[in-house]
Amino acid sequence: MKLVKLIANLGYGSRKDVTQLFRSGRITDAAGEVLYADDVVPYETIRIDDEPLDPPPGLVIMMNKPLGVTCSRKDPGRVVYDLLPPRFSVRSPALSSVGRLDRDTSGLLLFTDDGALLHRIISPRAQVTKVYEATLAQDLRSDEGALFASGSLMLESEKEPLAPAFLEVLGPRHARLGVTEGRYHQVRRMFAATGNHVETLRRLSVGALTLGELPPGAWRTLDADEVESIFAK
Ligand code: URA
Repeated sequence: MKLVKLIANLGYGSRKDVTQLFRSGRITDAAGEVLYADDVVPYETIRIDDEPLDPPPGLVIMMNKPLGVTCSRKDPGRVVYDLLPPRFSVRSPALSSVGRLDRDTSGLLLFTDDGALLHRIISPRAQVTKVYEATLAQDLRSDEGALFASGSLMLESEKEPLAPAFLEVLGPRHARLGVTEGRYHQVRRMFAATGNHVETLRRLSVGALTLGELPPGAWRTLDADEVESIFAK
């Protein structure tokens, strides 16, 4: 791909803007040599104003989503995309969240511009386990684990029962829940089906990928091994 298109697709500006960046000598190689629009150079050597380019397409990011932001692009309130560099919102191919977390859910949220990867992660067939930690308004009844594991729990207005999920009880009103699907408000609706109410909800992991030390609101790119760990069984 021509450099102008490649750099424009990363969100640095229109092709006209990027052509202007070349003309003004702001695009160089790592040694500071000015590059021209038809030069052919390795991606990692390109600099704009001495800064390396943003990651190329095939980008995968994890964020520790804070409470109070939505996974929408259109919401008039604060959205997860506001926590990423503004350039990331105008990349092509577009960067999207991998599924959604509710405004009132925090924790591990993935983003990618790789549509095939996104579908591979969210497809129920891939059986990627998402683990959530929930605090509840009322004491657990003690039969929730068996009900969630049964594969026969029907949520209101759904046509198919939920796939088996595992529950680990951490305290009278505190549990971890592992699910392989991503139905609308799934975890909240599962506990609602047992007469309970989720007070706080945080996603801890997707496959074998965990947040580690990433603070709330922070994000970082994932390397290939980390991406593969999403599918580790
Ligand atoms: N289940 C929910 O109810 N909410 C989320 O944000 C994620 C899973």
